[in-house]
Amino acid sequence: MAKDVIIALDFKNAAETYEFLDKFGREKPFVKIGMELFYAEGPEIVRNIRKRGHKIFLDLKLHDIPNTVKKAMNVLSRLDVDMVNLHAAGTAAMMTAALEGLMRPDGTRPLLLAVTQLTSTSEERMQKELLINADLKEVVASYAFNAKTAGLDGVVCSPREAALVKGRCGKEFLTVTPGIRYPSGEIGDQVRVTTPREAAEIGSDYIVVGRPITAAPDPVEAYERVKKDFLGK
Ligand code: C5P
Repeated sequence: MAKDVIIALDFKNAAETYEFLDKFGREKPFVKIGMELFYAEGPEIVRNIRKRGHKIFLDLKLHDIPNTVKKAMNVLSRLDVDMVNLHAAGTAAMMTAALEGLMRPDGTRPLLLAVTQLTSTSEERMQKELLINADLKEVVASYAFNAKTAGLDGVVCSPREAALVKGRCGKEFLTVTPGIRYPSGEIGDQVRVTTPREAAEIGSDYIVVGRPITAAPDPVEAYERVKKDFLGK
C-alpha cells in the first residue's frame, strides 16, 4: 500500500478548483473532494477531476440507516473514486451495508474509511452532550476496531491517534490523517497539529493537507515540500 499526500480541495466552486489544479501542470496529486465542493457542483466535478487524471478521496462522511447508506454507496461506486468514508457511529450494520453497496460488478471497490470521533469533538463535549462516558482515546480505538471487524480498510483520525489505532487494529489497517501543519504556519481552526515528518514517524499512511498547500504563495512548491517531508523523497 502506497503512502501519499492528499490535497484537500476546499474550494467553493469548479472554477477556483481548476485554477488551482492547473498550477500543477502534468503532475496529478491525490486530492480530496469534500461536502462544500460536491454540494456546489454535484457529481460532475468528481468525473471531471478523475478525467484530469487525479486519484480521489470523496469525503462525504455518510451516516444514515443501513439500507440508505448501501444505496448511496452504490451510486458513489460508479464515480470511480479511490476512497470514500462514513461515520463509524452508524454501527456495524451500517458499515457492512456500505461495503455491499460499494462493490462494483467487476469485484472492485473504493477503499472505505470510517470517521471515529470528529477531531473537532472534545472529550468533554462527547461525554456531556453525546453521553459517551468512556475516554475519547478508547472511543476512537474501539470505533476503529468495529470498523475493522465490519471489513473496512481504515479510519480518518488525528495523527496522534494513528499509533493507537494501529495498535488495536493492526498495521495494515489504514490511517488517513488531517491536521497537518508546520511550526511556522497558521494553525487556523485545527487544534492538535502534527508536521508531515512527525505524521510519517507515527505511522500515518496518508496525510490530508489543505491550507498549508492551498493558501501557500506557491502551492506547487508547498506540495513538493510536504511530499518530501512525508515520503522522505
Ligand atoms: O486546511 P486543512 O489542512 O486544515 O484541511 C484539512 C482537511 O481535512 C479539511 O478538508 C477538513 O475538512 C478535513 N478533516 C479534518 N479533520 C477531520 C476530518 C477531516 O480536518 N477529522
